[in-house]
Amino acid sequence: MTTAEHIDSLQSFEIRERDVFLVTYPKSGTIWAQNIIALIFELDDTDETIYENNLEKMPWLEYPEGHSDYVSRPSPRLFASHLTPALMPRGLKGKKAKIVYVARNPKDNVVSYFHFCHAWTSLETPKSFEEFLQQYLAGNVGGSSWFDHIREWHTHRDEYSILFLTYEDMVMNLFEFISFSIILLYLYGLTLPMLVATVLPQDLRSAVVKISQFLGRDLSEAMLTHIIEKATFKNMKKDPKANYEFLPEDLLQKGKFLRKGIIGDWKNSFTVAQNEMFDQVYQEKMKDIPFKFIWNI
Ligand code: PPS
Repeated sequence: MTTAEHIDSLQSFEIRERDVFLVTYPKSGTIWAQNIIALIFELDDTDETIYENNLEKMPWLEYPEGHSDYVSRPSPRLFASHLTPALMPRGLKGKKAKIVYVARNPKDNVVSYFHFCHAWTSLETPKSFEEFLQQYLAGNVGGSSWFDHIREWHTHRDEYSILFLTYEDMVMNLFEFISFSIILLYLYGLTLPMLVATVLPQDLRSAVVKISQFLGRDLSEAMLTHIIEKATFKNMKKDPKANYEFLPEDLLQKGKFLRKGIIGDWKNSFTVAQNEMFDQVYQEKMKDIPFKFIWNI
């Protein structure tokens, strides 16, 4: 929970050079990127910065419960947030700190959000997907409108030191998978299991490299491999530091943060008519925003 007073107080929250902010619209891959960033800084850990889980290590700026140590934390401080630029600390505009913004294609985003509403107890359970879809398109959900969130951050991008990434950037698409597999198969004669192990995490690799370079962290090959391994869906699901299963049962009743973790799950929920309607709204609202999403894998 947060309060209007706390959100207002964030305007004057003092920003430090080495602060790192992860900003997302809800259900866009926050805990995934949170895990990646936490791992990138793992080598620096001292007794003071080893936390029980990623929520402790990279707390939510807008939900201060249990994290009264924001000011006394040593640098680099890591924060996650779903806030729009207008609500973020003013000091961030000086480009002092770094912001990693992760966006997800809104069809998968709304489906992930719909399922989350059934699991997270303080959210109202939607009567149907159709009802939730209408609420989402109208921006009547926590985090406001997906369209406004992305537009605002994109419009104000020059005021911040910001890296834009998409959830889909972090997952390999089928075309890349096939082309890359053919090259490896023919040029290097890799066997199928070797191929899958080599190829599948490749995009995750590029995303980790992009994030670490942006954050000014030079990762060794061994560290890179370690982070990629820890950040795959399968491994994150088993990782008690990263999978959010440490949350009390009265918050997250039925369901998990790591639900499916794929691109294109929207096809299992959208009707043809809903898809056509969504495409129309998307074209209209996003026509001047140059974000390209992958919708299918
Ligand atoms: S929240 O509540 O806003 O913090 O949720 P958020 O973390 O932004 O989004 C949850 C979705 O991200 C997926 N996820 C992953 N996908 C692929 N690989 C990894 N490692 C990973 N970690 C989290 C998670 O499964 C949710 O998506 P869905 O589609 O519901 O599975």
